[in-house]
Amino acid sequence: MIGEEEPVRELEGLAQATTPVEVPTAADSAGPPATSSPAPAVASLSRPPLRERALAARVRSVPPSGIRRFFDIAATMADVISLGVGEPDFDTPPQIVEAGVEALRRGRTHYTSNYGTLELRVALADHLRRLYGLDYDPERELLVTVGASEAVDVALRATCDPGDEVVLHEPSYVAYAPAVVFAGGVVRFVPTRFEDDFALDPERVEAAITPRTKILFVGYPCNPTGAVLPPEVQAALAEIAVRHDLLVVSDEIYDRLAYGSYVHRPMSTLPGMRERTILIGGFSKAYAMTGWRIGWLAAPAGLVEGIVKVHQYAIMSAPTVSQDAALVALRTGEADVRRMVAEYDRRRRLLVDGLNAIGLPTFEPRGAFYAFPRITSTGLSSDAFTEQLLREEAVAVVPGNAFGPSGEGHVRMCYATAYEKIEEALRRIERFVQRRGGGGQ
Ligand SMILES: Cc1ncc(COP(=O)(O)O)c(C=O)c1O
Repeated sequence: MIGEEEPVRELEGLAQATTPVEVPTAADSAGPPATSSPAPAVASLSRPPLRERALAARVRSVPPSGIRRFFDIAATMADVISLGVGEPDFDTPPQIVEAGVEALRRGRTHYTSNYGTLELRVALADHLRRLYGLDYDPERELLVTVGASEAVDVALRATCDPGDEVVLHEPSYVAYAPAVVFAGGVVRFVPTRFEDDFALDPERVEAAITPRTKILFVGYPCNPTGAVLPPEVQAALAEIAVRHDLLVVSDEIYDRLAYGSYVHRPMSTLPGMRERTILIGGFSKAYAMTGWRIGWLAAPAGLVEGIVKVHQYAIMSAPTVSQDAALVALRTGEADVRRMVAEYDRRRRLLVDGLNAIGLPTFEPRGAFYAFPRITSTGLSSDAFTEQLLREEAVAVVPGNAFGPSGEGHVRMCYATAYEKIEEALRRIERFVQRRGGGGQ
């Protein structure tokens, strides 16, 4: 249940993971060159035993999730209110479920084209044109993936050469940095700060660029902060990408979860960007379809042609039943999206106002479904706050440092949870904070 949401911890480990992985040379291995002669006895090999080197160095360099500890504690407790997991509490709208069931009954139990069904790609192209004025060729410029997760992975694996640098803001979604490392790339983090409402500072982005930089990776609206890219920042980033001739990978899975006056504008709509952007989206968040595992990417044909190779050899095609359901989501789901977003907005107001009233400063998230309060007034670290809040008040949140070093001093709270539960969580958090004498700014 928490798989997709398990933040990467042990930041030293992550820092290590962001330096190039050394590839052993022939001289490192005292073994003979590969020939048809019998293999030497293991004892004669001057290399560590298999158990120490079976996993690739880049995999070893990425630390396992450290928050399992918190979920393990939560699992032993009754009456836990979880603001931890980043997924809609709504079930998939019934007509979409019905489409999936019906697809199975109709014998839609086979592979589809590697790219996904043409029907779904045509519907996606229409959707992008209608919403954003974007023009993608459904035959050559759209790929249906196993969630946005797979789209992130194949986009990076198809484009990173060993040692290529990827500029990435933090705190950001936990899967990004490991995906870069698994693809052979090197992460160059750009911090964002509470003081700036977690806006990405183009000057810092520019400072992180080196001759080895190939990709600017952006994920806005942002998990975990709820920050969005203001138009002038987005324009500055586009200008930087063009000037440095960078590829942009833009994960916009939260595009529909936008509040107040914020109007989402995909990265690829900006001047000079369509030809250099891999735009990623999905159905999990907007249509409450996390378990269907269905997402997509859109990019120029030349890029998709390469990306589809990685996808076809690793995945073959996204689940057929989910593709059929996603088609119905695009055709009929608009009212459902609006209904759910309106409810998230109501909960957002409750949570953000409540946290600020308790004295945990929380900037106003304009997208996604997360609040990212600062908890330093309690005198606790992110980890200690998370663990003690769970043990004492049975409220599960995620420590902010799980998303990058700049998340320390914060926790992430997901408001895709029933309104009444958020009300009760706020009462519990207030008690907890008062006991700490916290609640100052
Ligand atoms: C920013 C972001 N991108 C991608 C994903 C994965 O989405 P999907 O379910 O489509 O794989 C998540 C899930 O939490 C996310 O927060």
